[in-house]
Amino acid sequence: MAEIGQDIAKAKAFLERGELVGIPTETVYGLAGNGLNPDAVAKIFATKNRPDFDPLIIHTSSIERVLDFTIEIPEILRLLGEKFWPGPLTLLLSKKNIVPDLVTSGLDMVAVRIPDHSLSMDLLNILDFPLAAPSANPFGYISPTKASHVNDQLGDKIPYILDGGPCEVGLESTIVGVENNEVVIYRLGGLDVKDIEALVGNVKVRTQSSSNPKSPGMLKSHYAPQKPFILGDLKTLIEEYQSKGITFAVLSFGDGSRNVSTGKQVQLSPSGNLNEAAKNLFASMRALDTMDVSVILSELLPEQGLGRAVNDRLKRAATTRDCNPTSD
Ligand code: TXA
Ligand code: MG
Repeated sequence: MAEIGQDIAKAKAFLERGELVGIPTETVYGLAGNGLNPDAVAKIFATKNRPDFDPLIIHTSSIERVLDFTIEIPEILRLLGEKFWPGPLTLLLSKKNIVPDLVTSGLDMVAVRIPDHSLSMDLLNILDFPLAAPSANPFGYISPTKASHVNDQLGDKIPYILDGGPCEVGLESTIVGVENNEVVIYRLGGLDVKDIEALVGNVKVRTQSSSNPKSPGMLKSHYAPQKPFILGDLKTLIEEYQSKGITFAVLSFGDGSRNVSTGKQVQLSPSGNLNEAAKNLFASMRALDTMDVSVILSELLPEQGLGRAVNDRLKRAATTRDCNPTSD
């Protein structure tokens, strides 16, 4: 198992040697390596068992430093960066040659983010290279929102995990780029679309892309628990599975289901708060995945605020085919 601590000097030493370190961010924990070192980047792909067509996000600590490894920041994206960084926003920018092609899976654009977490910011500030960091989970599984999640799954493959406590936002960053002067969202995430639109006007949301492997955490089956994960109307599903005699656990948004024992259900936000639901989502899915039941039953949240991004993750986790994420 990895050592877990809060020693940024130790994390720095591992990273300088080309090793990988688990780092906290406000969204999810990252599996970090020197983003300019092709060997460290290759290690990230191998450790996560991630296909090399799925590019990585580069993390740094200031807009000035973003320009060390990108050619330019289009004005409209700069507005977003200035307003929402540090925060759950990733921008797609044209890369300089110093970014290894492996980071971007051969694309000309590199995904960049300034995370909002004091421990990781302190670490980035003492490093003289940026950090490539995908979510610190095996490819396709649920993202980690606690240091222990990282240790459970990758602890035998990395030497150190920086423990920054539970992630405040709990969903991966919102990925944004610009095409023909139009702002496009490629992945819904921890920054609400409405907040982006308030600054730059209407944006296009293009997150469905099961046929285009170059587009990220957009692969249809992703963020998935190991148990079958069934989405629908909870009351109907519970009756159906009870009558079939199949054991199940329930993931609900607000009010719990009265006829399910509390040990077999998790409520994302008893008070019906969408941000709280987002924060609890991945840890709840992990908890349900370890329960002694055959399937997990769940429901969608209202399509508002972070509910949209939570629903995107629920649909990608879902086993049923009638729950495809919507495009546009
Ligand atoms: O919140 C987050 O973004 C977290 C934390 C650790 O920062 N990171 C994260 O990384 O979610 P990851 O690798 O799990 O997801 C990043 C997504 C990938 O699905 C990847 O395909 C996409 O970003 N991406 C990276 N570079 C891209 C590019 N040049 N064009 C399109 N998509 C890109
Ligand atoms: Mg991921």
